[in-house]
Amino acid sequence: DRRPESAAGTGTGVEAGASADLAFDPDAYAESTLTIQDTGGVAHEVVYRFYKVASYVAEPVDATYQSLNVSVPVRIDGTAVDATGAPILLANGIGGYMPSSVADNTGIVASGMGGGTSRQALALAAGYVVVEPGARGRTLVDASGVYYGTAPAVIVDLKAAVRYLTFNKGRVPGDVRRIVSSGVSAGGALSALLGASGDSPLYEPYLKAIGAADTSDAIFAAGAWCPIIDLEHADMAEWCWGDNPLGGGAQVDPTVSGELRAAYAEHLASLGLRAKGFGALTARNLDAFLLRTHLEPSATRYLAALPDADRAAYLAANPFITWTPGGTPGGGSGGRAAFSWDGFLTHVGARKKNAPSFDGFTLATPENNLFGTGTTKARHFTLYSLRHESGDSARLDADIPAKLDLMNPMHHLVENLNHNRAKHWWIRLGTKDTDTSLSIAGNLSARLTSLGDDVDTAYYWDAGHGADQDPGAFVEWIGEVSG
Ligand code: DHB
Repeated sequence: DRRPESAAGTGTGVEAGASADLAFDPDAYAESTLTIQDTGGVAHEVVYRFYKVASYVAEPVDATYQSLNVSVPVRIDGTAVDATGAPILLANGIGGYMPSSVADNTGIVASGMGGGTSRQALALAAGYVVVEPGARGRTLVDASGVYYGTAPAVIVDLKAAVRYLTFNKGRVPGDVRRIVSSGVSAGGALSALLGASGDSPLYEPYLKAIGAADTSDAIFAAGAWCPIIDLEHADMAEWCWGDNPLGGGAQVDPTVSGELRAAYAEHLASLGLRAKGFGALTARNLDAFLLRTHLEPSATRYLAALPDADRAAYLAANPFITWTPGGTPGGGSGGRAAFSWDGFLTHVGARKKNAPSFDGFTLATPENNLFGTGTTKARHFTLYSLRHESGDSARLDADIPAKLDLMNPMHHLVENLNHNRAKHWWIRLGTKDTDTSLSIAGNLSARLTSLGDDVDTAYYWDAGHGADQDPGAFVEWIGEVSG
C-alpha cells in the first residue's frame, strides 16, 4: 500500500462542515440471506447486512444517482465472518456512459451479465465488503433543458463515493485502504479512470460543488473489462479494425479511415510507450506487440485448454492459426498458437462501428452526448471531426480539452503522471470486441507495466464485448493483492 495513511480517512469522529452529513450509520441495515453459486458451481449460503446510503455527497444534484449501497457478509455457510478488515469491492454498474442508479435496489445485484453469478456476489461470498455506487450519466436533463450528467459528472460522482468510504474509515465495514473498483465497458473506463486519477487536484472544484467529503479519493486497485477509454484518440485507433467490413458488408470511408490512421502514428509517437521486447511502440510494431503480448497467448490458452479433438476441429476450421504442440512459453507442454495480423483480422470479421467511431460527424454517438454541456446535448471533442463538419478554422469549445483530461485515464498516466494512482490493475478484453481498438486496452496495459505497476492483463479468445471469463480469478486476485 503506497497510499499515505494520513490521507486515508479521518477516524471515527464526525467532521464539521459539508462532511457532517456524511457519517455512515453502522446500525442502519437490513439483514438477509442469499444463496450464491461460486464459479465452481458450489452454492454458498451468505447472510449479509445491506445498507442503503441515501447520498454519498452533502449537496446532491440528484440523489437518485448519487447514492450507494453497502453489502457486508456476516455468515458464510454457517460460519460467522468478520469483514471489518476485508477489501472493499466498489462495483459500478455503468454502461454506455448512461445514468446508473442503485436507489431502488433492495439487495446486492446477484446475477451478472449472461445470467451467471455477479462479480459482486462472488466477492461477498469470498468475505469482502461490496459497495455499489450509482452515478449521474450523459442523458440526464433537467426541467430547463440543461444536461447535468455529461462529463465529468460520472467520474466526479464515483470519486465522491470513494471519498464517502474513506471519510467513514472505522465506521463503514471493510478496509478503506483496500478499495478495489470494477466496471465493464464505460464502467471499465470509469474504473480505470478512478484508479489512474486518485487524489488529482483537477476534480476538486467539481467535488466541492456537490459537497463531497474532504478527504482522499485514491483507490488501491482497479479492474477494467473492455474499457472504452482514450476517447479523443480512439477514432485514430482506427488502424486496428480499419480494413474490416461493417456488419452489412460495407467498408468504411477509406479516406476518413486512412486520415485517422495516419494521425494515430503521430499520436503514438507522442505517447512514448514502451514494451519489453519491442522498445518504443510505434505504428509499425503495434500489431506485432498485440499479437505477441496478448493475442497469441490468448489463443494459446484457449486452445491448450480444449480436449484434443476439439482443438483439432478448431484448428481445422481456422487454418490461419499455426499450432506448435508442446513448448508453451513458460515451459508448459500445451503447445503454442501463432498467426499473422491479417489472418487475425479476417477471423474477427465485421467491425461494429463506422469511422469515426467515437466523435461522430453527425454528433450521434454516446460520446458526443458525453461531451455535451448546458442545453447542448452533444458536441465534437476532436478537431478532426469538428473540422470535417465546420471547416479547417473551426476550434473546439474552450472547455473541451480540460474535460477530456478529466475523462481520460491516459492523461493521468502519461502527460500528468499521478503518483497516487492505484498500483494494482486487472485488465480484460475479448479478442472479438470491436467496440474500440484492441490497442486502447493494450496501451493502458503497456503504460502501467512500464511504470512498474502490478498489472494482470489478459485477452479472452474469441470473446465479444463485455465478456468476463475468469470472474473467480478476479475475486482471488483481490485477496492476493490486498493481503
Ligand atoms: C459502451 C460501449 C460502447 O461501444 C461505447 O462507445 C461506450 C460505452 C458500453 O457498453 O458501456
